[in-house]
Amino acid sequence: MTQITTLTLAPSLDSATTTDRMYAEGKLRCSAPQFEPGGGGINVARAIVHLGGKASALFPIGGPTGRHLADLLTEEGVTAVALETHDWTRQNLHVHVESTGEQYRFVMPGARLTVDEFQLFERHLAGLPQGSLLVISGSLPPGVGVENLRHLLREAQRQGLQCIVDTSGPALRACLEVGNLALVKPNQKELAELVNRDLIDPDAVRQAALEIIRQGKTQRVVVSLGPQGALAVDKDNVFQVVPPPVKKMSTVGAGDSMVGAMTQKLADGADLLDMVRYGVAAGSAATLHKGTRLCTLKDTRRIYDYLRQDDVI
Ligand SMILES: Nc1ncnc2c1ncn2[C@@H]1O[C@H](COP(=O)(O)OP(=O)(O)OP(=O)(O)O)[C@@H](O)[C@H]1O
Ligand SMILES: [Mg+2]
Repeated sequence: MTQITTLTLAPSLDSATTTDRMYAEGKLRCSAPQFEPGGGGINVARAIVHLGGKASALFPIGGPTGRHLADLLTEEGVTAVALETHDWTRQNLHVHVESTGEQYRFVMPGARLTVDEFQLFERHLAGLPQGSLLVISGSLPPGVGVENLRHLLREAQRQGLQCIVDTSGPALRACLEVGNLALVKPNQKELAELVNRDLIDPDAVRQAALEIIRQGKTQRVVVSLGPQGALAVDKDNVFQVVPPPVKKMSTVGAGDSMVGAMTQKLADGADLLDMVRYGVAAGSAATLHKGTRLCTLKDTRRIYDYLRQDDVI
């Protein structure tokens, strides 16, 4: 089977806690923190493992926070390929306020990567087998510019890796400039920013997706549309997949679950429709649980089977 590697350049050790009330100055007594791995590519690899697949997560680690992060991933069955860096892995904080139900998410800057440290990642990718899948997901840390990302992607493609990208803003633009990606998954807002205009109706979204396909920037685009599912486009097809109404608890992790599921389908050689159905199923499955939980195989299969009923009728 096709090997899957995810790359996360700005991972985090996420901690979650609850407090009764939020107020300034005084001490806010909190519950014992719960730790979880964080970062786009890391969550994509976790989602793949939740769905019964195999993935390696490649990311920098520094200091005790980094070791804690790598241990948590290993416990979950994700192969952690952690390259040591000087700066300590960042720690993000999620606070749930019980009296109001509010969520506060404190996001620190990623740990800085030096030029030498960044090159370690390029060297590691150079050792991956031709034809394998590389998922680049998440933000860029201090020390890494879009030109570095472009270089890494060019090198990866030159040696025959199929690249999947889920990021935003200048990093997304830079990846598409390299061209010929295997898959890109913007949400509607990210796509609008990319094409530099408002996308106010479904036809405008479809036109924008077709535009980047025709320009040869990517072989496939999946525009995720939250509760409305997703629009998948390649050079021959356009599919809209709408999930069944679900009782949404939290949308955190929906995008990463979706990318994980679609990556697994690409690794299996699935076609565009099957890939996006499984992606929408996993994304919606992730919303069924409170907090930061990713998709489960059981929920994903249930929604996927529902979405496939159209074929039988
Ligand atoms: N409220 C919802 N109800 C049902 N499904 C949802 C909902 N929100 C998201 N999803 C599912 O998850 C997929 C990805 O969600 P979304 O479009 O919000 O991605 P995203 O903006 O990249 O998310 P993230 O914030 O995780 O990066 C959707 O295509 C859909 O299948
Ligand atoms: Mg997203």
